Amino acid sequence: MTELRMPKDFLWGSASAAYQIEGAHKEDGKGTSNWDEFVQIHGKTFKETTGEVAVDHYHRYKEDIALMAEMGLKTYRFSIAWTRIFPNGRGEVNESGLEFYQNIIDECLKHGIEPMVTLYHWDLPQALVGEYGGWESEQVIDDYVNYAVVLFDAFKDKVKYWITMNEQNIFTTLGWMTAQHPPGKFDDEKMYYLVNHHAFLAHAKTVLKFKEMIPDGKIGASFAYSPSYAINADPIHAMSKIDFDNLKNFWWMDVYAYGRYPKNTYRYLEKKGVAPIVTSEDAVLLEAAAKQIDFMGVNYYQTSVTEYNPLDGVGPYGEMNTSGKKGTGEITGIPGLFKNPSNPHLETTDWDWTIDPMGLRYACKEITSRYNLPIIISENGLGAFDNKTEDNQIHDDYRIAYLNAHVYELMKAVDEGCDVWAYCTWSFTDLLSWLNGYQKRYGFVYVDRDEEGGSLDRYKKDSFYWYQDVIQSDGATITEE
Ligand code: BG6
Repeated sequence: MTELRMPKDFLWGSASAAYQIEGAHKEDGKGTSNWDEFVQIHGKTFKETTGEVAVDHYHRYKEDIALMAEMGLKTYRFSIAWTRIFPNGRGEVNESGLEFYQNIIDECLKHGIEPMVTLYHWDLPQALVGEYGGWESEQVIDDYVNYAVVLFDAFKDKVKYWITMNEQNIFTTLGWMTAQHPPGKFDDEKMYYLVNHHAFLAHAKTVLKFKEMIPDGKIGASFAYSPSYAINADPIHAMSKIDFDNLKNFWWMDVYAYGRYPKNTYRYLEKKGVAPIVTSEDAVLLEAAAKQIDFMGVNYYQTSVTEYNPLDGVGPYGEMNTSGKKGTGEITGIPGLFKNPSNPHLETTDWDWTIDPMGLRYACKEITSRYNLPIIISENGLGAFDNKTEDNQIHDDYRIAYLNAHVYELMKAVDEGCDVWAYCTWSFTDLLSWLNGYQKRYGFVYVDRDEEGGSLDRYKKDSFYWYQDVIQSDGATITEE
């Protein structure tokens, strides 16, 4: 047992995203999203899985939130499907969409669970893609703000914590560089940086609006942060670390926190002819918003190792492990800057994700030193194959070990002076993994479904009871190894 404790008001939580849990993809006036379309393309997802039914949270949200209450969860982070609010991205509000989220929020509040709302977790109205290319056009900025304002207005008295963007770095990289997410573009680097610039501006304008409308609320973005370690003390590898951090981490976090791009990387991209144009108006807007954000949201799964990568070295595109067969992922990098070999000191998951609990403390300390902002861990968890026994038990001791080790490091980070407000595991129930189907499970609650279907019945895993104890004891049940 640890001597450490989390403060009484610490937000022990769990997270989800609309497309991955809701299902009901055409119900009650919902419009079509980019993901509804993308999953129809042959070969894009694992065994052609879709979120059409997902884990049917749309119809079972009461049961799911009752389970959260039984567990003692303090906060529930979920995202809103833009297409339920504006089926065509803008125009007339779909009242039944608003009502659905109103019900979720009320259900949470009824049980003393603080709702934490993500405005955008990757499901863009397809109508906006058809009209002007979605994130590729600056027109999306005002549509995004308009959508956000409707939600702020509807829920301002009930929701305190808001997240503008989920993992902008991931949805843009997979959407415009590796073609694995919509719109499925490959190596479109200039557009990739432009799309990111639009997303930054949408985030920034939204933050400013938010502060006008809900001055006491808290807002930030959630970033998929992979801290890095240089492979050794050779200066050329140390240089690869700073290049990696600038290009893969600070490019986003510096904009959220400072309102500007890292200079060295901007120069590098400018020389390549792919840097986004930043007007003086943009610069003023980004800076003004950066001064107003309340926290850095961090989705933490793994760290990276950096090593110098010669000009004729590995490129950015390689096989990604989406099957759960260990060792099938490939090493990638940016020629002339860095590559990311595996870490010989650490184990990996079946999907080749490095398991590094101490990296979570490292991430918190880096953010604290660099940005001096409070932190919300908006996602952390283990994707694994789970087995339900004949008598409906799920003995996920590996997940308990993973979460225990991460929470322990988080408690140490707090003890060492980091201001951490919340820890949301990914995820509460099992859900659809965008590219890995239903077999990669993250939840405390097992959902009886696979790629083909299932009863959708819920079963509590061993980790459910473990987290219940952690919450109840303010972390006293966490062990040190
Ligand atoms: C994050 C996303 O990237 O990681 C989630 O915000 C996602 O939506 C989670 O599901 C786990 O990733 P994966 O690929 O294992 O489902």
